[in-house]
Amino acid sequence: MVELDTQEIRKIVREQYGKTADRAKSYACGCSSTNSIKTAQNYSTKIGYSEEEIKNVPQGTVGLGCGNPIALASIKEGETIVDLGSGTGFDCFLAANKVGKNGQVIGVDMTPQMIDTARENARKEDYKNVEFRLGEIENLPVADNVADLVISNCVINLSPEKEKVFKETYRVLKPGGRILISDIVLMEELPYLLKQNLEAYIGCVAGALLREDYIRIIQETGFQNVEIVGESYFPIKFMISDHNLLEFKEKLDLTPEQIEEIRNFGEAGISLKVKAYKPKDI
Ligand SMILES: C[S@@+](CC[C@H](N)C(=O)[O-])C[C@H]1O[C@@H](n2cnc3c(N)ncnc32)[C@H](O)[C@@H]1O
Repeated sequence: MVELDTQEIRKIVREQYGKTADRAKSYACGCSSTNSIKTAQNYSTKIGYSEEEIKNVPQGTVGLGCGNPIALASIKEGETIVDLGSGTGFDCFLAANKVGKNGQVIGVDMTPQMIDTARENARKEDYKNVEFRLGEIENLPVADNVADLVISNCVINLSPEKEKVFKETYRVLKPGGRILISDIVLMEELPYLLKQNLEAYIGCVAGALLREDYIRIIQETGFQNVEIVGESYFPIKFMISDHNLLEFKEKLDLTPEQIEEIRNFGEAGISLKVKAYKPKDI
């Protein structure tokens, strides 16, 4: 099997999330079955959103994260917030409700369909304090020292250049600013079969780092008071569907034992919530 290449990873991730954005749009126009809407809502409550929060985002906004960073970020009125990999804008709209009219939320995503959907959702509900910018989180289209808070939800694991993402995050934060990141990390090394597999990458597994390596990168970037504020088991069925497993089995001619190895690996996936600060005096 070949090593995954940085550009190839971005291309495939963008293509796949483009399709996801198109599916999300169908929720908005009522084209999808009630069942799929319920599934999306169900998933969101499972990963930590309240019914109230789910009701308070524009229709057509789908949470694709692995936790609820908003609940842990102690957001204050008037703050400026940047969301890395904002998708259809789920966390951005929740954050916008909290920062109020004097605050600002900037969502950044590299998938054009995600940005289009998010902008349309903002327009529909007349959100004036949220904007969505097309760009890569490794080269943020955001000025230096502007954000009080940077959030991200199940995105950095998809980046092939995680050090760059944290350096960019540090750059856009004001001195004393904070991060609240929700992401998938691993408690043990991935089976080789999964590590080299693009579908597994898109499912937020193959790009995930070991927890200790993830925390080390944040510390080495210069963040202080790095604290794990939450972690929970993230089942493999949220990352790789049975359909994908079947595809792996056929494509890679896997034995039942190898399939079992992949299923069991699911217990090593963790949804981590990390808080940290950019030093005040730099
Ligand atoms: C799993 S979804 C999460 C979306 C959103 N945070 C949420 O909770 O609903 C991942 C999102 O990250 C975006 N993404 C992945 N890699 C990215 C990168 N390198 N730069 C910018 N966006 C990226 C994808 O386009 C997709 O919208």
